Amino acid sequence: MATSRCSGDHRRESVAQMADGPVLIFDSGVGGLTVLREARVLMPHRRFIYAADDAAFPYGAWEEPELERHILALFSRLLDDYSPVISVIACNTASTLVINSLRERFPGHLFVGTVPAIKPAAERTASGLVSVLATPGTVKRQYTRDLIRQWASKCHVRLVGSDRLAALAETYMRDGYVDESAVHAEIAPCFIEQDGRRTDIVVLACTHYPFLVNRMRKTAPWPVDWIDPAEAIARRALSLLPKPAKAGRDDDDRRDLAVFTSGRLDGSTENLMRGFGLFTYR
Ligand code: DGL
Repeated sequence: MATSRCSGDHRRESVAQMADGPVLIFDSGVGGLTVLREARVLMPHRRFIYAADDAAFPYGAWEEPELERHILALFSRLLDDYSPVISVIACNTASTLVINSLRERFPGHLFVGTVPAIKPAAERTASGLVSVLATPGTVKRQYTRDLIRQWASKCHVRLVGSDRLAALAETYMRDGYVDESAVHAEIAPCFIEQDGRRTDIVVLACTHYPFLVNRMRKTAPWPVDWIDPAEAIARRALSLLPKPAKAGRDDDDRRDLAVFTSGRLDGSTENLMRGFGLFTYR
């Protein structure tokens, strides 16, 4: 993978330098950019590394034990290569499976997870009908079921696992095209009517989905609140960060980077990363 470039020196960094270390934002693909853009607003002086495990995309289709092993092994390389001060797992499919194991395996490191925003949805719904739109992986997780039991026992929560939306978002972000009828077909099961009430909240429980939210609004059968947790995730990361030892960035090596585990980078991905202010190595 293309993450070996910076290995070595970081291991010798002092604690003070670590506090100045980059913020690592991790996802299987481009979805974590929805979190990166919020994090940039809140932490303008921080350096960011965006790590996309595109070689393994989509995570939604993986079996749990294999995916867990895969992510733990990948993180041991990412932490070694980039010495981040904090890692944001900007992926519901990964977080709902491995956030606890990551914390156990790397006890000295700060992790922020992204899990379905079921609690805020349950607090906000007027009709009591909430849908959680996610990957098939997130929908089947025990973690997701536990969140519903803990926070939304008084609501009717429909879990909708989409096989296609994350890939549609990838194509949309790279090529600017999205098949609206496909988006409509994927979100349609979120909308239910029951005893004169209608779904009024859809939780976007995959970080790719906010990129398609305008298409979702356009093709939805009625208006709902679409909950995107990106800002809340970025706030959580900010609240945990130690203060940097020095303010600002000093040299060119401190550019924000994007790394792709496939090591393959096509022109449209490179352009997209540039648009997000991320430098890439070929
Ligand atoms: N962005 C990821 C999430 O938040 C999922 C995409 C995938 O299936 O890999 O769940």
